[in-house]
Amino acid sequence: MNRTFFAAVAAVVLLAPIHSIVADDDTELSDAAKYRETVMEAVASSFGGFIAVYLGKVEPSSKDKHLIANTRALAISSTLIGDLVPAGSEGGDALPLIWTEMDTYQKYSQDATAATAELARAAESGDRAAMGKAFKAVGTSCKTCHDKFREDD
Ligand code: HEC
Repeated sequence: MNRTFFAAVAAVVLLAPIHSIVADDDTELSDAAKYRETVMEAVASSFGGFIAVYLGKVEPSSKDKHLIANTRALAISSTLIGDLVPAGSEGGDALPLIWTEMDTYQKYSQDATAATAELARAAESGDRAAMGKAFKAVGTSCKTCHDKFREDD
């Protein structure tokens, strides 16, 4: 696995529409739908922070601290994904399929929770190869759910 591969994963996962900055879009959304987008942005920000340091785009003085803090934040915010789709929170880019295939949505959120926890453990251990492997698994977990349950636009 090389840097180009990781950059491609990062692009697919992170180049998502950020709706909270589009005022018109937000006016019709319930608070629960806006909350989903806010938490999802937190997930993406901490993953993006990890990626920037892991790929050497930035070189903070204590690199390990940044890898660990970003992946811990990612692992924590990812535990919320399963709770972001209560009844009545339809809208945004969340496809209606979520509410008819809730078990699958919940399974994918558990996969993301497990994958991000593994990445946090890998960062803690300082093992770059383990981080690379876990990075890929996290990217796959984001993409699997988005491909099925998030509208492409
Ligand atoms: C179990 C499903 C699921 C998983 C796992 C998941 N997402 Fe999402 N994500 C969604 C859904 C659904 C939306 C659309 C939310 C909306 O528009 O209401 C979304 C939206 C987003 C957005 C756009 C937020 C906005 O402001 O509109 C970003 C960025 C994002 N996800 C990043 C990630 C990253 C990074 C990961 C993996 C670490 C991830 N997601 C994992 C389901 C998931």
